[in-house]
Amino acid sequence: MLSSIMKTNDIREALMARLLRAIEGSMHVVYGQRKRAVFRDLPATIVEIGPGTGANMRYYAPGTRVIAVEPNPAMHPYLRKAARRYSLQLDLRSTKAEHLDLVTESTEAVISTLVLCSVDDPEQVVSEIRRVLKPGGRFIYLEHVAAVKDTALARMQDFLYRLWLVLFDGCRLNRHTWTTINAAGFQQVSMDCFKLKSAWVPVSPHIFGVAVK
Ligand SMILES: C[S@@+](CC[C@H](N)C(=O)[O-])C[C@H]1O[C@@H](n2cnc3c(N)ncnc32)[C@H](O)[C@@H]1O
Repeated sequence: MLSSIMKTNDIREALMARLLRAIEGSMHVVYGQRKRAVFRDLPATIVEIGPGTGANMRYYAPGTRVIAVEPNPAMHPYLRKAARRYSLQLDLRSTKAEHLDLVTESTEAVISTLVLCSVDDPEQVVSEIRRVLKPGGRFIYLEHVAAVKDTALARMQDFLYRLWLVLFDGCRLNRHTWTTINAAGFQQVSMDCFKLKSAWVPVSPHIFGVAVK
């Protein structure tokens, strides 16, 4: 029983890695402009939680040390390959972002794109991010979120919630991630709310910005 559950998880994780890799090009098209703007002046060492197959690596300056916190082992070969391709120093950690294996106030920038929908405990993750950031350090985020309450899109998200969770390796369609970030105690939070124009309608509402400790 246990071994068949583990096998199902392995298959789901492997499928998620393949899917992410397959849609990397289209993510570059829809998110590229925003990502380029915020990833332009990153420090020499950055922490990225849930980097997946390395969709963000093309935006990092060659030589950057990327501490990549990625619990899905099926993503790791893709990450190693992307790091080589973009000449990055990869420091890969298999832990979950709920407990970052990093010293308090040790880092200048943490990045999360499309991750807070998937983590088990978003409040704990954002609190960990804030813990490891130095004062003045930046948390750069791009996340899909819940639609405006009582709209047709919100009803669609509620209807698809369970199916989406299973199909996309724990992705929750209707998280109020903006509340989590705003309530985390950052000194300053910039937040751009926008709707993505793509075929992925259930995940179209997004937030994007920088929270400064
Ligand atoms: C939808 S993918 C996004 C991948 C990548 N950030 C991107 O923008 O393409 C979500 C990622 O979060 C990772 N993830 C899920 N739970 C996590 C956790 N608790 N801590 C860190 N990463 C997690 C998944 O393994 C996956 O790589």
